[in-house]
Amino acid sequence: MSQSSVPYKVLCVCLGNICRSPTAEVVLQQHIDKAGLNIMVDSAGTSNYHPNQPPDARSQKYAREQGYDLSHLRARQIQAQDFEQFDLILAMDHENLGNIELLMRQSDKTLKQGSVRAHLALMSQHDLDFPQQAIPDPYYGDAKDFERVIRQCESSSQAWIRYWQKYDFKA
Ligand code: 4NP
Repeated sequence: MSQSSVPYKVLCVCLGNICRSPTAEVVLQQHIDKAGLNIMVDSAGTSNYHPNQPPDARSQKYAREQGYDLSHLRARQIQAQDFEQFDLILAMDHENLGNIELLMRQSDKTLKQGSVRAHLALMSQHDLDFPQQAIPDPYYGDAKDFERVIRQCESSSQAWIRYWQKYDFKA
């Protein structure tokens, strides 16, 4: 699959798509590009709380300090077609994962039979430093919570890249 010119597609998902998943999108894409893998990353929220809004100013600030530019991103809600278009959907926490699973089961009835191709996993699935842990929601938190999001996104991104390099692009 890695030899194909069609990129493997990954969707990062949190609740609002303004804090954790846009950070995950940019951090993961930057690490993927550095590793030279043919993978494209996007992000979405399970809610529609902030349609078309840029990432939270605090997420942008703390990400920029670590060399990540989130300014071009705009929030959107996950939709049924994402299960057809993405190979892998990464949930930022267990509640997001449960809600994505539910939506996937509901969408399966409306989508063409056999068209769902997405695998679901936690962002931290292979991360030995944060094993199966949630990336905690920083929205009502402070600087240390936003900094933690970046640290966990970096750690989990590196773990996914090691996994893909070892096992090819399969969840
Ligand atoms: P995110 O954070 O899920 O990491 O984007 C949140 C953003 C907004 C809200 C909650 C969490 N909200 O309640 O509006």
